[in-house]
Amino acid sequence: MNANPVISVNNLTQQFGKSVVLDKVDLKVHKGEILGILGPSGSGKTTLVKAIVGMNSPTEGDITLLDTKIPSLKVISRVGYMAQSDALYEDLSAMDNLLFFAALYGLKGKAAKVRAEEVLKLTHLYEEQKKPVRNFSGGMKRRLSLAISLIHEPDVLILDEPTVGIDPVLRQEFWEKFYELKSTGCTIIITTHVMDEAEKCDRLALIRGGRITALSSPEELKKQSNTSTIEGAFLYFGRSKDGE
Ligand SMILES: Nc1ncnc2c1ncn2[C@@H]1O[C@H](COP(=O)(O)OP(=O)(O)O)[C@@H](O)[C@H]1O
Ligand SMILES: [Mg+2]
Repeated sequence: MNANPVISVNNLTQQFGKSVVLDKVDLKVHKGEILGILGPSGSGKTTLVKAIVGMNSPTEGDITLLDTKIPSLKVISRVGYMAQSDALYEDLSAMDNLLFFAALYGLKGKAAKVRAEEVLKLTHLYEEQKKPVRNFSGGMKRRLSLAISLIHEPDVLILDEPTVGIDPVLRQEFWEKFYELKSTGCTIIITTHVMDEAEKCDRLALIRGGRITALSSPEELKKQSNTSTIEGAFLYFGRSKDGE
């Protein structure tokens, strides 16, 4: 068994011009874990997950994914990424969107079609597969984005605010999928600014101003901060850092 963390972020600093957006971030995520990154808008969540999928080159520090230093083309083929805003081809059908992304991962022909049908079923879009995406609702687009992130059966799934703007029923369904994927050994990072969603994660990294202020299970964070809510814990750890 490989006990190394699946994701290891080491002393990561990301600067854009003079502004330091991530400040010496350390983070390790283990196989089959759902790690939440919770922080307000502008705290650096997207910048952090983009760094993990190799879309930004860090100013300092490094990231290891599946025992490989990134950026690495080989390793990126084992990672699914769902961006904060849907990146879909509006004029193509759901199926054709999936086949397009499948081809990027080298999946073609019958195998691509079969896998596309699987993820369409998984996200309850099977009946809508021929419709052009421009006629999709916001929730359907999010579901298709999730389907695309799963097309190549990734070992690691990085989801940037996947449930923003979707109704509570669909949010619940998404979480059922995340737990299913976790049970198959998939390692998941999910960013959120929603407190009740954060409670569903195995561990939570609280991020504020580009720094991780606390990292533990939701239960442990509440205990350590002597509060009954994640919101309370967030404020507590934010304060104690600011006071340094
Ligand atoms: N490419 C970039 N160039 C300059 N500033 C950026 C860039 N990307 C993000 N930022 C800044 O970094 C900060 C964190 O942004 P982001 O990671 O998107 O936060 P979050 O996802 O938590 O809302 C913001 O102040 C944002 O304006
Ligand atoms: Mg963001």
